[in-house]
Amino acid sequence: MVERLALVTGAAGFIGSHLCRRLVQDGWRVRGVDCFTRYYDPAQKERNVAGLAREPRFELKRVDLGTTDLHGLLDGVHTAWHLAAQAGVRSSWGRSFAEYTSQNINATQRLLEAAVGSGLRCLVCASSSSVYGEAPIYPMPEDGPLRPISPYGVTKLAAEHLARLYALAHGVPTVSLRYFTVYGPRQRPDMGFHRFFRAIHGEQELTLFGDGSQSRDFTFVEDVTEANLLAAEHGEPGGVYNISGGSRITVLEVIRMMERITGKTARVVRSGGQSGDPHDTGGDSARAREQLGFRPQVGLEEGLGRMAEWMDRFLRGEPE
Ligand SMILES: NC(=O)c1ccc[n+]([C@@H]2O[C@H](COP(=O)([O-])OP(=O)(O)OC[C@H]3O[C@@H](n4cnc5c(N)ncnc54)[C@H](O)[C@@H]3O)[C@@H](O)[C@H]2O)c1
Repeated sequence: MVERLALVTGAAGFIGSHLCRRLVQDGWRVRGVDCFTRYYDPAQKERNVAGLAREPRFELKRVDLGTTDLHGLLDGVHTAWHLAAQAGVRSSWGRSFAEYTSQNINATQRLLEAAVGSGLRCLVCASSSSVYGEAPIYPMPEDGPLRPISPYGVTKLAAEHLARLYALAHGVPTVSLRYFTVYGPRQRPDMGFHRFFRAIHGEQELTLFGDGSQSRDFTFVEDVTEANLLAAEHGEPGGVYNISGGSRITVLEVIRMMERITGKTARVVRSGGQSGDPHDTGGDSARAREQLGFRPQVGLEEGLGRMAEWMDRFLRGEPE
């Protein structure tokens, strides 16, 4: 059987590295793309792909989608997953916004342009619940109002529009997935669960933005990986899907759960709310369930337990 070739951008990142691992396990050849941006320590990204680098079916291209000539990148590629981005809501204000427009809008447009006429079966793009902003209803359906409240959310919405536009105007079979707060092993160090576990583990102060009553719809990274595979197979070209784990609870409740899992007490210090962070997020995943067959498998307690084990190994500097 001829092995199918996948392209994954953002391959060394948190979610991208899980997707690459799963594709290799499923028998794909994988061409990973990442330029190891300095948003967080590139050493963590090197570690994310260290195991993959030993796989003969995996190749890593250290290129910047925003500046490199993308000619030939999609040659022979069956399906592509575009996860490369400048992530993070809080740092998207001020001067660093240029990073967001460049990585999230310009780089996406360049990849879409390269995909025109390439024969790709599907181009799955990572979008975000941030496109909703402060949603008027929960859980939020895909057709609800899109009013981002962070510059990051604005750039992810622009990328989504570009993906839909290239599907309509040029027949590029794009599918956009709006992920709701993803967690699990390899989570980015700027994200809440990673910061919380690190603080609890080291018995240091844990900074809580806001009063902890804000709620999130947390999604385990393996469920997001599965959603990406399903979207490539069943997604409607130009379509958009919420990918949410259905574990919507408050941040304070999460910290209590982490205390139970680790057997340690969190030293919580409160800080002001962060501009650009919605108070609540919650995604209606009916469309993903009905059209893609997506059903999240990992509940919060189990997912947090698995992340806690990884954090222990990570903080001890053990290899993946
Ligand atoms: N983590 C979440 O909870 C979450 C939620 C919603 C959406 N998303 C989206 O999912 C995707 C993956 O997020 P993540 O949390 O894994 O982030 P991440 O920062 O760990 O991974 C993104 C990777 O993309 C790479 N990259 C950035 N710009 C690039 C460029 N121009 N060329 C090549 N590589 C580039 C970075 O070096 C990084 O390794 C992003 O598109 C993000 O916006 C993530």
